[in-house]
Amino acid sequence: MSVSHPLPRSWLFVPGDSPSKMEKARASGADALILDLEDSVAPGEKQAAREAVATELAKAAPMPRYIRVNALDTDWTQADVAAAEGADGWVLPKCEGPADLDVLARLAPGRPVLAIATETVRAVRALLAEDWTHPSLIALAWGGEDLAADLGATGNRDGRGQYHSPFLFARDAMLFAAKAAGVGAIDTVYTDFRDSDGCRAEAVAAETVGFGGKMAIHPAQVAPINEAFTPAQDRVDWARAVVRAMEGDGVSSLNGQMLDRPHLRQAQAILSRLRP
Ligand code: COA
Ligand code: MG
Repeated sequence: MSVSHPLPRSWLFVPGDSPSKMEKARASGADALILDLEDSVAPGEKQAAREAVATELAKAAPMPRYIRVNALDTDWTQADVAAAEGADGWVLPKCEGPADLDVLARLAPGRPVLAIATETVRAVRALLAEDWTHPSLIALAWGGEDLAADLGATGNRDGRGQYHSPFLFARDAMLFAAKAAGVGAIDTVYTDFRDSDGCRAEAVAAETVGFGGKMAIHPAQVAPINEAFTPAQDRVDWARAVVRAMEGDGVSSLNGQMLDRPHLRQAQAILSRLRP
């Protein structure tokens, strides 16, 4: 699907039942907002949140606003999309494959979708088994909290803050499925929102292996994420030099280093991250 905005680097979650946070979020500098009707809103507050989100969408904002609807196995999804006329796109939680994207596209056609694709055991299996190419899909994201619950795990990180192997496996499976489908790859939230350095380090690590952005839960995480997914000037200079050196050649050299096609593709990936 062609969308009017480049793939957002920072996707800031905002609870849909909090008008004050939605107002703050507009000034956060995030590339996109995710106004949440799902897990950050209590079951008894769903209707009030839909109304608050509709009111918010009627106001102008400098960034696209995606709505995280409730999962398709709840009775709420249809009312969620109906209330969010002005949404720029949807975030679909607990997405288990392209068939779920079909269901959402029937309920609410013509909007781009960010699918959170690792929240159930079945979803992770589908990342490996299925082709996730879909006309409404613009990116896949992963999350480790719901997956822990579905696995029967009692935690997802070790004492040093590193994810346990099943969660890294899910993250990697999501990355490969996104690349195979030709869509963006978005890293999960960093929940320790007072630890900016930790958030930045996780975002840099994600960027290094091919992610294009990261979800955030707090405005303070926006700047470190945007920086991490913006190529540094020395890398941009290197990429431009590689593209120049490789023009019309299968193999070339730069500063005494051999260059061939994989370097050209890396250089093009760096330049593709530059924003207009
Ligand atoms: N969007 C917009 N504003 C936010 C925000 C967010 N995600 N998170 C915090 N703020 C605001 C706070 O309301 C507060 O505003 P104030 O100064 O006007 O009172 C300010 O930023 C500073 O917040 P702080 O005191 O540091 O945090 P907090 O204790 O108020 O909130 C959370 C902590 C985790 C509850 C909050 O960050 C949050 O709601 N995050 C989103 C959670 C979510 O959507 N989860 C679902 C996806 S995992
Ligand atoms: Mg959740």
